[in-house]
Amino acid sequence: MIAIGCDHGGYDLKLEMIKYLEREGLAYKDFGCNGESVDYPIYARKVGQAVLDGECEKGILICGTGIGISIAANKMKGIRCALCSDCFSAEATRLHNDANIIALGGRVLGPELAVKIVDTFLKTPFSGDERHVRRISMIEE
Ligand code: RB5
Repeated sequence: MIAIGCDHGGYDLKLEMIKYLEREGLAYKDFGCNGESVDYPIYARKVGQAVLDGECEKGILICGTGIGISIAANKMKGIRCALCSDCFSAEATRLHNDANIIALGGRVLGPELAVKIVDTFLKTPFSGDERHVRRISMIEE
């Protein structure tokens, strides 16, 4: 199950992302918003909590820039939220950081690039390399 959430700045891109998840047959839970003006930390927390609870294995968060919502998500212990604007970073953050949430900027990315970035993120496993496990555990200390 993929958790997805956004603020008003990320709403249009969230709709594109939901179309992608449905095309791929990936189950998702939409935590809002529905396009109205909202405060992005609320949606970061909803998606972050779903991931921490194990209800969802990964999350997608979208605000205007992706910055505020990623900062908010990363305040939650155990959340590793990566703001990505390219496929290289999306792949690397799974391989190296075992990121559990990806953040996107709805006012930054076009839908086609955003979908490729998320596709890369969701399909790349964590490398499991000892050095990366060690570094991640240092973040959690
Ligand atoms: C909302 O206008 C905007 O500030 C928000 O979507 C985001 O870009 C914050 O980082």
